[in-house]
Amino acid sequence: MIHSAIVPVAGLGTRLLPATKSQPKEMLPVARKPIVQYVVEELAAAGIERILFVTGRGKSSIENHFDHDPELNRSLTQADKKALLDEIEFEKLQVHYFYTRQRLQLGLGDAVRCGENFAGPEPFLVALGDSIIGLNGHSTISRRLGEVYEQDGASCVIAVEEVPRELTSLYGVVAPASKGNVFQIADLVEKPAPEQAPSNLAIAGRYVFSPSIFEKLRKVKPDHRGEIQLTDAIRLLAASGERIIGVKLARGERRYDIGNFPSYFETFLEFALADPDYGARLRQHLKRLVR
Ligand code: G1P
Repeated sequence: MIHSAIVPVAGLGTRLLPATKSQPKEMLPVARKPIVQYVVEELAAAGIERILFVTGRGKSSIENHFDHDPELNRSLTQADKKALLDEIEFEKLQVHYFYTRQRLQLGLGDAVRCGENFAGPEPFLVALGDSIIGLNGHSTISRRLGEVYEQDGASCVIAVEEVPRELTSLYGVVAPASKGNVFQIADLVEKPAPEQAPSNLAIAGRYVFSPSIFEKLRKVKPDHRGEIQLTDAIRLLAASGERIIGVKLARGERRYDIGNFPSYFETFLEFALADPDYGARLRQHLKRLVR
């Protein structure tokens, strides 16, 4: 069982300006909840007990969100607002939260490196704080990655998703060495042009690592933007003969990437349409709008 997760949330979110000028992109709401709450709930459901957020300047609202708020609890209890108290039940998740700062924007690999002391000698999960997996975050992918890690004796297990060929330059892309939904990975490339991509299987923002990744992260050279790429460190693991396994997202378990406006708008709409109380009304409204 994997007990610890690192959740990088230090990115500046510049593609979502001005919405992200003074609030973290991970705190933007998708229907009723901020993005990062879906991620944390997925991890808690996978049995994760400790979460380290790798934060940066301007991210303190994430810390506030997961903290217990005694005043709010007291006033809702006094006013007998049971339904609203239910909405903040997530405060009671059986998870210990830790926070550290990535001081410079040196890339995802560097953010994960900030978690070396936290992870210690145990395997750990990495879940990107701006990616929701599955409608309403209902996905067992983190749990499945942990199970594959334990059964397989791999050094690294990665969630992957099929993407259209023309979009490979937005993702890390894997070169499979076997077939199936759980398969061996021979190599990986960060953001390849479509004609250079070894497949259309994109890294989907969830990974399980053995602590051997830290040694590789120390060896990775910064890319042309001065960033340490996590994909490059996994590539070094593969090159030194370690087993890297890919796990495909299941049908209906797509990844919602909130890094840009088109996909943020679509995600919000899809989740809002699925809302048990207000979805039907929104559907009617949309029909009228697009008529
Ligand atoms: C990062 C990773 C990339 C992965 C992607 C998934 O890129 O470097 O390999 O496919 O997350 O969201 P970013 O989106 O931070 O540029």
